[in-house]
Amino acid sequence: METNIKLKPTVFAIFGGSGDLTWRKLIPSLFDLYQDLNMPSDFSIIALDRIRLNDKELHKRFRDGIEKFSRKGKVDDKVWSKFTRHIYYKQGDFTKSKIYTILKEQCSNLEKEWNAKAQIIFYMATPPLMFGEIPKHLKEAGLANDRERARIVVEKPIGHDIASALKLNQILTDSFTESQIFRIDHYLGKETVQNILAFRFANPLFEPIWNRRYVDYVTITVAEDLGVEHRGEYYEKAGALRDMVQNHLMQLLCLIAMEPMVSFDADEIRNKKVDVLHAIRPIPHDMVNQSVVRGQYGRGYMGSKKVCGYRKESKVSKDSNTETFVALKLFVDNRRWQDVPFYLRTGKRLPRQVSEVTIQFRAVPHKSFPPEATLDWQTSCLILSIQPDEGIVLRFQAKQPGTMLLLNPVTMRFNYQESFSVPIPDAYETLLWDVMNNDATLFMRADQVEAAWQIIMPILDAWPGQPPADFPNYSAGTWGPEETNGLLNPGHHWPLPMELSEKNISPK
Ligand code: BG6
Repeated sequence: METNIKLKPTVFAIFGGSGDLTWRKLIPSLFDLYQDLNMPSDFSIIALDRIRLNDKELHKRFRDGIEKFSRKGKVDDKVWSKFTRHIYYKQGDFTKSKIYTILKEQCSNLEKEWNAKAQIIFYMATPPLMFGEIPKHLKEAGLANDRERARIVVEKPIGHDIASALKLNQILTDSFTESQIFRIDHYLGKETVQNILAFRFANPLFEPIWNRRYVDYVTITVAEDLGVEHRGEYYEKAGALRDMVQNHLMQLLCLIAMEPMVSFDADEIRNKKVDVLHAIRPIPHDMVNQSVVRGQYGRGYMGSKKVCGYRKESKVSKDSNTETFVALKLFVDNRRWQDVPFYLRTGKRLPRQVSEVTIQFRAVPHKSFPPEATLDWQTSCLILSIQPDEGIVLRFQAKQPGTMLLLNPVTMRFNYQESFSVPIPDAYETLLWDVMNNDATLFMRADQVEAAWQIIMPILDAWPGQPPADFPNYSAGTWGPEETNGLLNPGHHWPLPMELSEKNISPK
């Protein structure tokens, strides 16, 4: 990623500067941007946190994170030494005013040194508990006033349900205006996700058939092979519906279903996306079980490795009812999509990591070929592969060479790595750069977040009254509970991930 845009002098003030997100994502991405000469010439990273850390310890921690998680991996000593000159650590309690005074002083010292006004990005890389405190204090310290230069970045979870999301949005807008608030959904920073818009709207080819007349159904799969890892404490309260569906899967659905934007303007695009969310047919309370399937992984095998069930993971209750898998069927009630099912599924400890959207086209209205030619008949299908095989595949019928008339499905494939020789930036690099460039296109506006919560609220309301009797109901290393197939209309199916289906491997 290389751009010609000259970014303004910037201070990154990271609340939660010694935490996991800073270590895994923020610093590695900022360092990759730095190495690609995509940081402003004047910039500083001020890590703020409660614990005592000296510069040496902080730098060691950051370097370790970069070596483990950054796109470029290895750190060159000379570049690192230059980079560390931009890093400061300030210790303090986020609930007390002192740390904000220290931050303010540090910012004005930097501005003097740079002889320029700086844009200040307050990054909330803290547990959600702090989301209420920090904006209030920033405002009191006079750090939030500058609408052009002061920005706040908020990580998910944006609330726990609609009420808490509304409350959090209120807290944020008490101190900042909406244009200063950048709510991150890192899926939107993925190149392949951004490419959905390019694919749909920069090519005249597919848009005319991108509707209920030609599309039979859509599936969105975000499967992870990992379990809950070290995040048991958070995940117990979240579950897959809050952790993945409310944000990442809803964003994918919006990009697939939205109407064309008039211009590439942040609000125009976000308006079109929010229209989709508003058009999603509400799930009636008494239909939750017909529209949604939940699951929890039990012990099983990931390849040949034996793994434990969710209830045996660290910081997880032995009789936990938290779902690690969700599948749901939604409808977008508008002219374009009326009655086309959108099937969504996501889960942990599925056989492999794969995020894919499939657009399954309708069968031809009349089959003119003799039945014996079409034994292997499959309707045309477009696969947008988000990760890990980044690309797009179109599957269609072709005549098999030979004297007999035999039709077989074949594929046409676009692959990112083969078509573009430039490396794909990490989603966080893109998003951090956009915040510095004050471009909110890839960030969620308050009304989007709230509309997404509204969609899943009937499920969140219904589930506690009907605790699952069968958890764990899928073994680690399988594609989720059997009941998932019950969501599908007759003739519909969950697709096999691209790579498996091409190798003709059947699902476990
Ligand atoms: C996060 C979720 O938002 O997304 C995690 O909290 C999940 O549970 C992760 O593992 C998946 O992101 P990616 O980029 O690895 O697909």
